[in-house]
Amino acid sequence: MGNHILEAMARDGFEEVIAIHDRVSNLRGFLALHDTTGGPAFGGIRRWAYVDEDRALRDCLRLSRAMSHKCAVAGLPCGGGKLVVIDRPDLDIEAGYRAIGDYVERLSGRFYTGPDVGTGARELACVSERTRFCTDPGPDGPGELAEATAEGVFRGMEAALLHLDGEIDWKHRSVVVQGLGEVGRGLARRLVTQGARVRAAEVDPERALMVHEELDIELIDASTEFDSACDILAPCALGGILHDLTLTRLRCRIVAGAANNVLARSGHADRLHEMGIFYAPDFVINAGALIRGALFHLEGRLEPVAAIGTRIAQTAAGLFDRARERGLVPARLAALEAEDEIARRRSGGVNPLAAHLRDAVDKSV
Ligand code: NAI
Repeated sequence: MGNHILEAMARDGFEEVIAIHDRVSNLRGFLALHDTTGGPAFGGIRRWAYVDEDRALRDCLRLSRAMSHKCAVAGLPCGGGKLVVIDRPDLDIEAGYRAIGDYVERLSGRFYTGPDVGTGARELACVSERTRFCTDPGPDGPGELAEATAEGVFRGMEAALLHLDGEIDWKHRSVVVQGLGEVGRGLARRLVTQGARVRAAEVDPERALMVHEELDIELIDASTEFDSACDILAPCALGGILHDLTLTRLRCRIVAGAANNVLARSGHADRLHEMGIFYAPDFVINAGALIRGALFHLEGRLEPVAAIGTRIAQTAAGLFDRARERGLVPARLAALEAEDEIARRRSGGVNPLAAHLRDAVDKSV
């Protein structure tokens, strides 16, 4: 890929990719802007020990394009971006995140960033020292991002159950959650409250015990989640966990979770369909934090978590119905609709980014 970056950008319609190296902090990474024709690009900062820069770049491109799809499907006036940092022992984390703040500020509002794997409140506080275009983890920010995501995933699950069974009936449903982090815990809490049977796999024993004591859910060994019979498997850890080897082990009826790019390849959506497993696309049901953050930054309002859930449930239900009518797998249809929407935005009309940037400049003077 390193040698064919421009080709990859042209094929998938990327606007700009920036290679980042900061001498002071040893920060190395990439910032990709996939699409800003509908409004500024939104995307978190992923810090990960990538084995080489090729993989970091590939992840950056994949994630930023997925963010464009997520924005388009959610009907938000913004597009996709992403920043990945190659985690290395010589990285000065605080200085590195301050340098990221400088890079983001120089983009003057074309890119808003925020949390992702490896980037939490501590790191974002450093970014926020240098730029306004960061989802502030403190009291000045939108807050409740993971809660908004958990609510959206929960309501997306309900839309899937209604679509398949005509009823939700949580008391007779079982869910296996992979990953009890911020989103997984919020999701498990909602499911327990509704009377569902919840089992969970979590690789961090302290975290597992903490959530087990709080919610009284059954813990299962990590990796047995794929073999556990249940109504819904909820991947809430990392992406890429459903691939050729894990798919054949699944004993669920529905896959619906928060992890981005949960399928290793898009063709796995078709495989799941052939296996009789309904897949609720991650980028449709995990948009809660994006919706909360984007409306906060672009419209200056705090959308209530419950309203975000309702919005996602409606989007998911509409998608599932259209997919059934057209005989398509929902993940395929969602990607097609997102690409159509991006093409529509690119083909002209008002550019909300221009208006947004004018407002940002007006407010800052
Ligand atoms: P987190 O980092 O708080 O939680 C992830 C949890 O998964 C951790 O407790 C980790 O120990 C556990 N884990 C990792 N590998 C595992 C494995 N193989 N088996 C079992 N547990 C494992 O992350 P968070 O914020 O809860 O997000 C979860 C996923 O959802 C991530 O993939 C994230 O990118 C995605 N996501 C999160 C959003 C948010 O608002 N936080 C928004 C959209 C997507």
